[in-house]
Amino acid sequence: MCGIVAAVAARNVVPVLVQGLQRLEYRGYDSCGVAVHLGAAGGDASAPGAGLQRARSTARVAELQAQVERDGLSAGTGIAHTRWATHGAPAVHNAHPHFSHGPGAQAGQRPARVALVHNGIIENHEELRAELQAKGYVFESQTDTEVIAHLVDALYDGDLFQAVRAAVARLHGAYAVAVFHKDEPQRVVGARAGSPLVLGVGRAEGGEPAPHYLASDAMALAGVTDQIVYLAEGDVVDLQLGRYWVVGQDGAALTAGQRPVKTVHAHSGAVELGPYRHYMQKEIFEQPRAIADTLEGIEGIAPELFDGQGEHATAAWRVFKDIDQVLILACGTSYYSGCTAKYWLEGIAGMPTQVEVASEYRYRSSVPNPKTLVVTISQSGETADTLAALRHAQSLGMTHTLTICNVATSAMVRECELAYITRAGVEIGVASTKAFTTQLAGLFLLTLALAQAKGRLSAEDEAQHLKAMRHLPVALQAVLALEPQLIQWAEAFAQKDNALFLGRGLHYPIALEGALKLKEISYIHAEAYPAGELKHGPLALVTSAMPVVTVAPNDALLEKLKSNMQEVRARGGVLYVLADADTHIASGEGLNVVRMPEHYGVLSPILHVVPLQLLAYHTALAKGTDVDKPRNLAKSVTVE
Ligand code: F6R
Repeated sequence: MCGIVAAVAARNVVPVLVQGLQRLEYRGYDSCGVAVHLGAAGGDASAPGAGLQRARSTARVAELQAQVERDGLSAGTGIAHTRWATHGAPAVHNAHPHFSHGPGAQAGQRPARVALVHNGIIENHEELRAELQAKGYVFESQTDTEVIAHLVDALYDGDLFQAVRAAVARLHGAYAVAVFHKDEPQRVVGARAGSPLVLGVGRAEGGEPAPHYLASDAMALAGVTDQIVYLAEGDVVDLQLGRYWVVGQDGAALTAGQRPVKTVHAHSGAVELGPYRHYMQKEIFEQPRAIADTLEGIEGIAPELFDGQGEHATAAWRVFKDIDQVLILACGTSYYSGCTAKYWLEGIAGMPTQVEVASEYRYRSSVPNPKTLVVTISQSGETADTLAALRHAQSLGMTHTLTICNVATSAMVRECELAYITRAGVEIGVASTKAFTTQLAGLFLLTLALAQAKGRLSAEDEAQHLKAMRHLPVALQAVLALEPQLIQWAEAFAQKDNALFLGRGLHYPIALEGALKLKEISYIHAEAYPAGELKHGPLALVTSAMPVVTVAPNDALLEKLKSNMQEVRARGGVLYVLADADTHIASGEGLNVVRMPEHYGVLSPILHVVPLQLLAYHTALAKGTDVDKPRNLAKSVTVE
């Protein structure tokens, strides 16, 4: 979603703000902006020329950078934002930072008094807007954010920290905010609830007081500081030149022990593209490494692999012996990894498993069973719907929770009893790729651990499965070498408006994931079906204009799948088949085959998804879409 960066320093912070935005741009890219306090460097709010200045753009951060350089924007206090629009179209007047000029005034009539950036959604913004309008505040945007800027102004009585505390107490919904005021040039106040915000602690150098920072993600501060404080729900943080403090939800000042400074090696290298054209391409090709890292150090299956790391951390063996079913909650691509895991968990571990889209589960009446292991799957660990679904399950008495997550410091890890951290590394491309395959690796390990806990895993099976997993990086390299053939497919797909994806069993969720990848980055309408469902409706869509991608591993369902393929051919549909070498499916009229290097048994979904990622990537490339920043989307969906 949106990205926030803020800083208070004795020197110009604009380059740090802009660089931070560049690193956060994947979170939202509808518009961006930066605001500074021009009185900040000397600390004199009444100095000539002092005041608030901002630059905003509906283009990318690179354009904003050119704008601030043209304007010569330079100050020691500033806030910056990259936006994913929720309330109000992507337009300059809706871009953050938002200003409040006080009641009865708007831009141009009186200098700005408050500057604010926000990530999240304020649910009671209409009520607050009406209240503030009645007090004379003039609104210049359609955003929910602008109400917070005016609210801070209305509550300001010489102390920004107190004004922000009072303002956020009035908010319903999710927020991370950073604010400054014209009368306090060297102060930024931040607050968070429901949206992420970290504090970056700088080091005093050359006799100058230490600079301090706020950001949506520690990665935005890579190379600036690695000393990070993770703010908790309800925290309000006061950043001043050379000092900071944090107050918790109850208003009590927190000690360094309660909000410890952690050394975080945010991967500045991870945001470099290297030889690749796009992050998505880079991340697809990183998968052998990501899987190897995720499996590193695993000598055998043991419950300890899943021991907790957060506030409710517990030992996995206690939980595993206490549960008799699994409920998986996730969104999007992570949901599809859950759908794949259902086949493993039921087929191998004999564990009844239900998989639900988090945004559905959180609002429906369900029948809770305290003997359920609730598994959330999330790349970011901050997805609002998944977090809310987790909390909903906990509120129903299902306290046994586990997350498969790519971010060790995320809310998901903190709030679950157990965790498995995938080591995909930072994923920047909006279309998830390496996060998906590493989730599958983590879920397969979970399957084996639960099978073991239930006495269903022999030492021989364990050894065989582990051997197959360790071979995955090599097997993935061989699949990546198929890229030239997928480029050929992509040329044909780029001419189409629709596509169907078919799979059966374990590979039905892979077909779903392939269709999602294609639609989200190439904007081609794509749908996936279990191949057996074709004749129950979707077959009506099949003509020579409809490419039909079929995932065809050599498994027990192959002969059934071949019949489904005949149904497509008989209607003139053109098949694009990912076939294992030993399936004897060969290219011919209306039948295009890419042969997978080796048959991979139950782990085959991890391999079969990769050509579908490459197909989507090259189709998008051929169509000239913005691969890493597809329209209307954003990474880390921290709003509902
Ligand atoms: C699709 C994609 C999304 C995410 C979904 C969940 O390529 O990336 O569908 O999978 O928004 O995000 P996480 O995994 O961060 O909870």
